[in-house]
Amino acid sequence: MSRAACAVIDLHALRHNLQRACAADPEARQFPVIKADAYGHGLLSVAQALTTDADGFAVASLEEAVLLRAAGIGQPIVLLEGFFHADELLEIQQYQLDIVVHHAAQLDALESLARQQAMVKPVNVWLKVDTGMHRLGFAMDAVPTAWARLSACAAVQQPPRLMTHLACADDFHNVSTRQQIEFFNDVLPGVQTERSMANSAGILGWLGSHADIDRPGIMLYGVSPFLNETGADRRLRPVMTLRSELIAVNECQAGDAVGYGGTWVCPEAMSVGVVGIGYGDGYPRHAPAGTPVLVQGVEVPLIGRVSMDMLSVDLRGLPAAGVGDAVVLWGEGLPAETVAHAAGTLAYELFCSVTARVPRQYV
Ligand SMILES: Cc1ncc(COP(=O)(O)O)c(C=O)c1O
Repeated sequence: MSRAACAVIDLHALRHNLQRACAADPEARQFPVIKADAYGHGLLSVAQALTTDADGFAVASLEEAVLLRAAGIGQPIVLLEGFFHADELLEIQQYQLDIVVHHAAQLDALESLARQQAMVKPVNVWLKVDTGMHRLGFAMDAVPTAWARLSACAAVQQPPRLMTHLACADDFHNVSTRQQIEFFNDVLPGVQTERSMANSAGILGWLGSHADIDRPGIMLYGVSPFLNETGADRRLRPVMTLRSELIAVNECQAGDAVGYGGTWVCPEAMSVGVVGIGYGDGYPRHAPAGTPVLVQGVEVPLIGRVSMDMLSVDLRGLPAAGVGDAVVLWGEGLPAETVAHAAGTLAYELFCSVTARVPRQYV
Protein backbone atom coordinates (compact mmCIF):
# COMPACT_ATOMS: atom_id res chain seq x y z
CA MET A 1 0.00 0.00 0.00
CA SER A 2 1.79 3.12 -1.19
CA ARG A 3 -0.41 5.79 0.36
CA ALA A 4 -1.26 5.74 4.03
CA ALA A 5 -4.86 6.93 3.60
CA CYS A 6 -7.25 4.22 4.76
CA ALA A 7 -10.62 3.83 6.43
CA VAL A 8 -10.49 1.45 9.37
CA ILE A 9 -13.92 -0.10 9.92
CA ASP A 10 -14.58 -1.44 13.41
CA LEU A 11 -17.12 -4.25 13.04
CA HIS A 12 -17.38 -4.75 16.82
CA ALA A 13 -18.49 -1.15 17.15
CA LEU A 14 -21.00 -1.72 14.36
CA ARG A 15 -22.52 -4.70 16.19
CA HIS A 16 -22.53 -2.78 19.44
CA ASN A 17 -24.48 0.03 17.75
CA LEU A 18 -27.08 -2.39 16.42
CA GLN A 19 -27.47 -3.68 19.97
CA ARG A 20 -28.16 -0.10 21.05
CA ALA A 21 -31.03 0.00 18.56
CA CYS A 22 -32.35 -3.34 19.83
CA ALA A 23 -32.17 -2.12 23.43
CA ALA A 24 -33.90 1.18 22.61
CA ASP A 25 -36.84 -0.56 20.91
CA PRO A 26 -36.82 -4.18 22.10
CA GLU A 27 -40.22 -5.03 20.64
CA ALA A 28 -39.29 -4.11 17.07
CA ARG A 29 -37.48 -6.02 14.38
CA GLN A 30 -34.40 -4.18 13.12
CA PHE A 31 -33.74 -3.71 9.41
CA PRO A 32 -30.34 -1.97 9.20
CA VAL A 33 -30.16 0.54 6.38
CA ILE A 34 -27.07 -0.37 4.35
CA LYS A 35 -27.70 1.55 1.15
CA ALA A 36 -24.94 3.61 -0.51
CA ASP A 37 -22.37 0.91 0.23
CA ALA A 38 -23.49 0.87 3.86
CA TYR A 39 -23.00 4.62 4.14
CA GLY A 40 -19.51 4.18 2.69
CA HIS A 41 -18.53 1.42 5.13
CA GLY A 42 -18.72 -1.48 2.64
CA LEU A 43 -22.02 -3.19 1.81
CA LEU A 44 -21.04 -6.83 2.10
CA SER A 45 -18.72 -6.55 5.10
CA VAL A 46 -21.35 -4.62 7.03
CA ALA A 47 -24.15 -7.00 6.07
CA GLN A 48 -22.07 -10.04 6.98
CA ALA A 49 -21.09 -8.52 10.32
CA LEU A 50 -24.72 -7.81 11.19
CA THR A 51 -26.33 -10.87 9.71
CA THR A 52 -26.87 -12.78 12.95
CA ASP A 53 -28.58 -9.87 14.72
CA ALA A 54 -30.39 -8.10 11.89
CA ASP A 55 -33.95 -9.15 11.06
CA GLY A 56 -33.62 -7.80 7.54
CA PHE A 57 -31.82 -5.13 5.55
CA ALA A 58 -32.85 -2.01 3.66
CA VAL A 59 -31.12 -0.82 0.48
CA ALA A 60 -31.82 1.66 -2.29
CA SER A 61 -31.39 -0.42 -5.42
CA LEU A 62 -31.88 -3.82 -6.95
CA GLU A 63 -28.13 -3.98 -7.69
CA GLU A 64 -27.30 -3.66 -3.99
CA ALA A 65 -29.87 -6.31 -3.08
CA VAL A 66 -28.56 -8.74 -5.70
CA LEU A 67 -25.02 -8.32 -4.36
CA LEU A 68 -26.31 -9.22 -0.89
CA ARG A 69 -28.15 -12.31 -2.15
CA ALA A 70 -25.06 -13.39 -4.15
CA ALA A 71 -23.06 -13.14 -0.90
CA GLY A 72 -25.52 -15.48 0.79
CA ILE A 73 -27.55 -12.96 2.80
CA GLY A 74 -30.86 -14.74 3.36
CA GLN A 75 -32.80 -12.21 5.43
CA PRO A 76 -35.59 -10.10 3.99
CA ILE A 77 -34.22 -7.19 1.98
CA VAL A 78 -36.39 -4.17 1.27
CA LEU A 79 -35.81 -1.81 -1.64
CA LEU A 80 -36.53 1.58 -0.07
CA GLU A 81 -37.52 3.22 -3.35
CA GLY A 82 -39.15 0.09 -4.70
CA PHE A 83 -38.60 -0.51 -8.38
CA PHE A 84 -37.94 2.11 -11.01
CA HIS A 85 -39.03 0.14 -14.10
CA ALA A 86 -41.54 -2.70 -14.39
CA ASP A 87 -38.90 -4.98 -15.92
CA GLU A 88 -37.16 -5.15 -12.52
CA LEU A 89 -40.11 -7.01 -11.02
CA LEU A 90 -39.19 -10.45 -12.21
CA GLU A 91 -35.73 -10.16 -10.70
CA ILE A 92 -37.28 -8.79 -7.52
CA GLN A 93 -39.37 -11.91 -7.37
CA GLN A 94 -36.47 -14.19 -8.25
CA TYR A 95 -34.34 -12.77 -5.44
CA GLN A 96 -37.30 -12.60 -3.03
CA LEU A 97 -36.96 -8.91 -2.30
CA ASP A 98 -39.48 -6.67 -0.58
CA ILE A 99 -40.47 -3.46 -2.33
CA VAL A 100 -41.66 -0.08 -1.13
CA VAL A 101 -44.57 1.10 -3.26
CA HIS A 102 -44.85 4.87 -3.15
CA HIS A 103 -46.38 5.88 -6.48
CA ALA A 104 -49.40 5.07 -8.66
CA ALA A 105 -47.13 4.09 -11.56
CA GLN A 106 -45.83 1.23 -9.42
CA LEU A 107 -49.38 0.10 -8.67
CA ASP A 108 -50.10 0.08 -12.42
CA ALA A 109 -47.02 -2.06 -13.06
CA LEU A 110 -47.93 -4.57 -10.35
CA GLU A 111 -51.49 -4.85 -11.62
CA SER A 112 -50.31 -5.31 -15.17
CA LEU A 113 -48.00 -8.11 -14.04
CA ALA A 114 -50.84 -9.75 -12.16
CA ARG A 115 -53.03 -9.59 -15.30
CA GLN A 116 -50.29 -11.30 -17.32
CA GLN A 117 -50.00 -13.86 -14.51
CA ALA A 118 -46.24 -13.35 -14.82
CA MET A 119 -45.61 -13.32 -11.08
CA VAL A 120 -45.04 -16.87 -9.83
CA LYS A 121 -44.81 -15.83 -6.19
CA PRO A 122 -46.38 -12.66 -4.80
CA VAL A 123 -43.98 -9.95 -3.68
CA ASN A 124 -43.89 -8.35 -0.21
CA VAL A 125 -44.97 -4.74 -0.46
CA TRP A 126 -44.46 -1.87 1.98
CA LEU A 127 -46.99 0.83 1.13
CA LYS A 128 -45.36 4.17 1.74
CA VAL A 129 -47.45 6.92 3.29
CA ASP A 130 -46.46 10.55 3.01
CA THR A 131 -47.12 11.86 6.50
CA GLY A 132 -45.36 15.16 5.93
CA MET A 133 -41.96 14.74 4.36
CA HIS A 134 -43.31 15.28 0.85
CA ARG A 135 -40.61 13.21 -0.76
CA LEU A 136 -41.95 9.72 -1.47
CA GLY A 137 -45.30 8.20 -0.59
CA PHE A 138 -49.04 8.40 -1.11
CA ALA A 139 -50.78 11.41 0.37
CA MET A 140 -52.96 10.49 3.35
CA ASP A 141 -56.19 10.82 1.35
CA ALA A 142 -54.82 8.60 -1.45
CA VAL A 143 -53.81 5.78 0.89
CA PRO A 144 -57.20 3.98 1.09
CA THR A 145 -57.35 3.62 -2.71
CA ALA A 146 -53.72 2.50 -2.96
CA TRP A 147 -54.34 0.03 -0.15
CA ALA A 148 -57.47 -1.33 -1.87
CA ARG A 149 -55.60 -1.78 -5.15
CA LEU A 150 -52.69 -3.57 -3.46
CA SER A 151 -55.09 -5.73 -1.45
CA ALA A 152 -56.79 -6.83 -4.66
CA CYS A 153 -53.57 -7.45 -6.59
CA ALA A 154 -52.57 -11.08 -7.10
CA ALA A 155 -48.92 -10.08 -7.52
CA VAL A 156 -48.82 -8.79 -3.93
CA GLN A 157 -48.32 -10.87 -0.80
CA GLN A 158 -51.17 -10.10 1.62
CA PRO A 159 -51.44 -8.04 3.65
CA PRO A 160 -49.08 -5.28 2.51
CA ARG A 161 -47.13 -3.44 5.22
CA LEU A 162 -47.36 0.27 5.94
CA MET A 163 -44.39 2.58 6.27
CA THR A 164 -43.54 6.24 6.49
CA HIS A 165 -40.37 8.28 6.93
CA LEU A 166 -39.69 11.05 9.46
CA ALA A 167 -38.39 14.33 8.06
CA CYS A 168 -37.28 16.31 11.12
CA ALA A 169 -36.78 13.78 13.90
CA ASP A 170 -33.19 14.97 14.41
CA ASP A 171 -34.61 18.08 16.09
CA PHE A 172 -36.46 17.54 19.38
CA HIS A 173 -38.05 20.98 19.13
CA ASN A 174 -39.61 20.43 15.74
CA VAL A 175 -43.33 19.75 16.24
CA SER A 176 -43.79 18.14 12.82
CA THR A 177 -42.48 14.78 14.05
CA ARG A 178 -45.29 14.49 16.57
CA GLN A 179 -47.71 15.33 13.78
CA GLN A 180 -46.19 12.73 11.44
CA ILE A 181 -46.52 10.10 14.16
CA GLU A 182 -50.18 11.02 14.72
CA PHE A 183 -50.94 10.92 11.00
CA PHE A 184 -49.29 7.52 10.64
CA ASN A 185 -51.19 6.12 13.61
CA ASP A 186 -54.43 7.39 12.06
CA VAL A 187 -53.87 5.89 8.64
CA LEU A 188 -56.19 2.99 7.77
CA PRO A 189 -57.74 2.63 11.24
CA GLY A 190 -58.64 -0.91 12.10
CA VAL A 191 -56.36 -2.43 9.47
CA GLN A 192 -54.16 -5.12 11.00
CA THR A 193 -50.77 -5.13 9.38
CA GLU A 194 -47.12 -4.50 10.21
CA ARG A 195 -45.94 -0.91 10.32
CA SER A 196 -42.55 0.76 10.07
CA MET A 197 -41.69 4.35 10.89
CA ALA A 198 -38.54 4.81 12.99
CA ASN A 199 -35.15 5.73 11.57
CA SER A 200 -32.23 6.24 13.98
CA ALA A 201 -33.70 9.40 15.47
CA GLY A 202 -37.07 7.71 15.91
CA ILE A 203 -35.50 4.69 17.60
CA LEU A 204 -33.44 6.73 20.06
CA GLY A 205 -35.66 9.72 20.63
CA TRP A 206 -39.29 9.31 19.58
CA LEU A 207 -41.00 6.45 21.38
CA GLY A 208 -44.22 7.15 19.50
CA SER A 209 -42.51 6.16 16.27
CA HIS A 210 -41.69 2.67 17.51
CA ALA A 211 -43.65 0.09 15.55
CA ASP A 212 -43.14 -3.44 14.22
CA ILE A 213 -40.03 -2.75 12.14
CA ASP A 214 -37.32 -0.10 12.63
CA ARG A 215 -34.90 1.13 9.97
CA PRO A 216 -31.72 2.27 11.75
CA GLY A 217 -29.09 3.91 9.56
CA ILE A 218 -26.65 6.50 10.82
CA MET A 219 -26.69 5.30 14.44
CA LEU A 220 -25.24 1.96 13.32
CA TYR A 221 -22.21 3.81 12.05
CA GLY A 222 -21.72 5.46 15.44
CA VAL A 223 -23.20 8.88 14.79
CA SER A 224 -25.90 10.55 16.84
CA PRO A 225 -28.94 11.31 14.71
CA PHE A 226 -29.65 14.42 16.80
CA LEU A 227 -28.46 17.96 16.28
CA ASN A 228 -25.60 19.18 18.48
CA GLU A 229 -24.67 15.74 19.82
CA THR A 230 -22.08 13.11 19.06
CA GLY A 231 -22.49 9.36 19.08
CA ALA A 232 -20.85 9.10 22.50
CA ASP A 233 -23.80 11.04 23.96
CA ARG A 234 -25.95 8.04 22.94
CA ARG A 235 -23.35 5.41 23.86
CA LEU A 236 -22.68 4.72 20.20
CA ARG A 237 -19.17 3.82 19.06
CA PRO A 238 -17.53 5.20 15.91
CA VAL A 239 -17.23 2.59 13.19
CA MET A 240 -15.17 4.35 10.50
CA THR A 241 -11.84 5.95 11.39
CA LEU A 242 -10.35 7.76 8.44
CA ARG A 243 -6.57 7.70 8.84
CA SER A 244 -3.44 8.83 7.12
CA GLU A 245 0.06 10.06 7.99
CA LEU A 246 2.17 13.17 7.90
CA ILE A 247 4.11 12.95 4.63
CA ALA A 248 6.08 16.18 5.15
CA VAL A 249 6.83 18.67 7.92
CA ASN A 250 7.97 22.06 6.65
CA GLU A 251 9.44 24.99 8.53
CA CYS A 252 7.71 28.08 7.17
CA GLN A 253 8.41 31.76 7.79
CA ALA A 254 6.05 34.54 8.84
CA GLY A 255 4.17 35.65 5.71
CA ASP A 256 4.52 32.31 3.85
CA ALA A 257 1.24 31.37 2.16
CA VAL A 258 0.18 27.71 2.40
CA GLY A 259 -1.49 25.70 -0.39
CA TYR A 260 -3.48 26.57 -3.52
CA GLY A 261 -4.55 30.17 -3.75
CA GLY A 262 -2.33 31.07 -0.80
CA THR A 263 -5.44 31.56 1.32
CA TRP A 264 -3.72 30.92 4.66
CA VAL A 265 -0.64 32.93 5.61
CA CYS A 266 1.72 31.95 8.44
CA PRO A 267 1.50 34.58 11.18
CA GLU A 268 4.96 33.63 12.46
CA ALA A 269 7.75 31.14 11.83
CA MET A 270 6.10 27.75 12.33
CA SER A 271 5.95 24.05 11.43
CA VAL A 272 3.39 23.06 8.83
CA GLY A 273 2.46 19.41 8.46
CA VAL A 274 1.33 17.91 5.16
CA VAL A 275 -1.13 15.02 5.51
CA GLY A 276 -1.48 12.40 2.77
CA ILE A 277 -5.20 12.70 2.22
CA GLY A 278 -7.35 15.09 0.22
CA TYR A 279 -10.61 15.56 -1.62
CA GLY A 280 -9.62 12.78 -4.04
CA ASP A 281 -10.06 10.51 -1.02
CA GLY A 282 -13.32 12.12 0.01
CA TYR A 283 -12.09 14.58 2.60
CA PRO A 284 -14.31 17.64 2.06
CA ARG A 285 -12.58 20.25 -0.07
CA HIS A 286 -14.67 22.98 1.50
CA ALA A 287 -13.48 22.18 5.07
CA PRO A 288 -12.28 25.57 6.31
CA ALA A 289 -9.10 26.49 8.16
CA GLY A 290 -9.57 25.50 11.78
CA THR A 291 -11.29 22.18 11.08
CA PRO A 292 -9.81 19.80 13.66
CA VAL A 293 -7.39 17.03 12.66
CA LEU A 294 -5.71 14.60 15.07
CA VAL A 295 -1.94 14.16 14.78
CA GLN A 296 -0.56 11.55 17.17
CA GLY A 297 -3.81 11.96 19.13
CA VAL A 298 -3.42 15.73 19.47
CA GLU A 299 -5.96 18.06 17.89
CA VAL A 300 -4.43 20.54 15.44
CA PRO A 301 -6.16 22.87 12.97
CA LEU A 302 -6.38 22.39 9.22
CA ILE A 303 -4.85 25.33 7.34
CA GLY A 304 -5.12 26.44 3.70
CA ARG A 305 -7.16 24.76 0.98
CA VAL A 306 -7.61 21.02 0.89
CA SER A 307 -6.03 19.68 -2.31
CA MET A 308 -6.73 16.43 -4.13
CA ASP A 309 -4.20 14.22 -2.32
CA MET A 310 -3.03 16.37 0.57
CA LEU A 311 -4.00 18.86 3.20
CA SER A 312 -1.95 20.99 5.58
CA VAL A 313 -2.10 21.40 9.33
CA ASP A 314 -0.72 23.91 11.80
CA LEU A 315 1.82 22.08 13.97
CA ARG A 316 2.58 24.89 16.41
CA GLY A 317 0.85 22.90 19.13
CA LEU A 318 2.89 19.78 18.37
CA PRO A 319 6.59 20.69 18.04
CA ALA A 320 7.76 17.06 18.09
CA ALA A 321 5.64 16.03 15.09
CA GLY A 322 7.48 14.31 12.26
CA VAL A 323 7.01 12.50 8.97
CA GLY A 324 5.13 9.22 9.42
CA ASP A 325 3.12 10.40 12.41
CA ALA A 326 -0.39 8.96 12.54
CA VAL A 327 -3.23 11.24 11.53
CA VAL A 328 -6.95 10.76 12.16
CA LEU A 329 -9.35 12.79 10.05
CA TRP A 330 -12.44 11.49 11.85
CA GLY A 331 -13.49 8.48 13.89
CA GLU A 332 -11.75 7.21 17.01
CA GLY A 333 -10.83 10.29 19.07
CA LEU A 334 -12.38 12.82 16.69
CA PRO A 335 -16.14 12.52 16.14
CA ALA A 336 -17.25 12.68 12.51
CA GLU A 337 -20.00 15.03 13.72
CA THR A 338 -17.37 17.57 14.83
CA VAL A 339 -15.60 17.52 11.47
CA ALA A 340 -18.91 17.60 9.60
CA HIS A 341 -20.05 20.60 11.62
CA ALA A 342 -16.81 22.46 10.89
CA ALA A 343 -17.16 21.65 7.19
CA GLY A 344 -20.83 22.66 7.05
CA THR A 345 -22.09 19.17 6.25
CA LEU A 346 -23.27 15.98 7.94
CA ALA A 347 -21.46 12.81 8.91
CA TYR A 348 -23.73 10.99 6.42
CA GLU A 349 -22.08 12.90 3.59
CA LEU A 350 -18.55 12.52 4.96
CA PHE A 351 -18.92 8.74 5.09
CA CYS A 352 -20.55 8.38 1.68
CA SER A 353 -17.90 10.59 0.08
CA VAL A 354 -14.90 8.42 0.97
CA THR A 355 -13.73 7.33 -2.45
CA ALA A 356 -12.91 3.89 -3.79
CA ARG A 357 -9.16 4.52 -3.75
CA VAL A 358 -9.22 4.57 0.06
CA PRO A 359 -8.79 0.96 1.21
CA ARG A 360 -11.23 -0.20 3.88
CA GLN A 361 -9.50 -2.19 6.63
CA TYR A 362 -11.89 -4.29 8.69
CA VAL A 363 -11.13 -5.01 12.33
C1 LIG B 1 -36.64 5.42 4.08
C2 LIG B 1 -35.48 5.48 5.01
N1 LIG B 1 -35.55 4.83 6.18
C3 LIG B 1 -34.52 4.85 7.06
C4 LIG B 1 -33.37 5.56 6.80
C5 LIG B 1 -32.28 5.60 7.84
O1 LIG B 1 -32.18 6.90 8.34
P1 LIG B 1 -31.03 7.27 9.42
O2 LIG B 1 -29.74 7.05 8.72
O3 LIG B 1 -31.25 8.71 9.71
O4 LIG B 1 -31.25 6.35 10.55
C6 LIG B 1 -33.27 6.25 5.59
C7 LIG B 1 -32.05 7.02 5.32
O5 LIG B 1 -31.94 7.87 4.52
C8 LIG B 1 -34.33 6.21 4.68
O6 LIG B 1 -34.29 6.86 3.51
